[in-house]
Amino acid sequence: MEIVSEEEEPPDTTPFFRASNIEKSLKLKKLYIKFEGASITGTQKDRISRLHARRAKALGYDTLSLASCGNYGASVSYYARVQGLGSVVAVPSGYSGERNAEIEQYGGTLLREDGKYENLVDMMRDLGNDNCWYDCNPGSQNSFIDFLGYENIAFEIISQLGHAPNFVAVPVGNGTTMTGIYSGFKKAYRMGQIDHIPRLIASSTDGGNAIVHSWKMKSRKIVDLDPLRLKESRANEPLVSYHSIDGQKALNAIYESRGFAGYVSDEEMIRTSSFIERLEKVQALPASSSALSVAVRVMRKFVDYPECVVVLTGRGKPWTTQ
Ligand SMILES: Cc1ncc(COP(=O)(O)O)c(C=O)c1O
Repeated sequence: MEIVSEEEEPPDTTPFFRASNIEKSLKLKKLYIKFEGASITGTQKDRISRLHARRAKALGYDTLSLASCGNYGASVSYYARVQGLGSVVAVPSGYSGERNAEIEQYGGTLLREDGKYENLVDMMRDLGNDNCWYDCNPGSQNSFIDFLGYENIAFEIISQLGHAPNFVAVPVGNGTTMTGIYSGFKKAYRMGQIDHIPRLIASSTDGGNAIVHSWKMKSRKIVDLDPLRLKESRANEPLVSYHSIDGQKALNAIYESRGFAGYVSDEEMIRTSSFIERLEKVQALPASSSALSVAVRVMRKFVDYPECVVVLTGRGKPWTTQ
């Protein structure tokens, strides 16, 4: 991907459309897709990486640092480069590394480290402190930026649809994206822009995710999983998580909005991603397609709440070859 200057960057707003073919095929009432895969590096992470890179520059940092499954790393290294800054990205060595070449292409320093993603977040926090790097990890002193960036997804949905839908489905890993979207709907409600807050639907991988696990256990408090029992795979890397860093906030959002959470298998994610491509002609990353799977389960149960927006957080090809 060619680096464009800040002036040439496209606006943040991502496509929103009615998924009429999926509606017909699955006999659903009103299904909409908010497609985050259309952003420059292909995931919702661009919304926050751009803000972090601008902030890092304004504060006088020369390097941004983080741990990542790959998507956030590619996005941060791209936007760091736009600002003329460096980036250091740690990716677990056991991960597929599908986006590693891209991270390096944007000038990022890639560290392939043993350990789980969560361990690498701690490692990068310490390394960043020692080296005076700007910390882009979720849960850092800078992560209020994440929520501000993701609130825009809610504001855009309201303006693109003209009102608040009954449901909004979002894939969760750390829960940061869902927390930001919920915060956006709450702000819009408080400002009188919408007359209700949508019920949130969280989707994740049956390889293990602390948010979905806690909701299924009916726990109000986030419960970590046993790291040894996680099943990581190429398809579920963005979502698998024994300790979701913004998990408590995301879980609160699900309970407060009277929402739902569900697991999806790798096979179903991959199948759903092909289904979306066949019917709606957008290439969605399998992990992000999990949102449609869980949304459909909920919509079938709650037929009196006909309108659902599915946030597809990432695009599929060319960097996935499922
Ligand atoms: C494409 C994609 N979708 C969803 C997520 C999950 O987002 P969050 O960690 O904010 O819950 C990620 C996280 O890496 C991702 O890369």
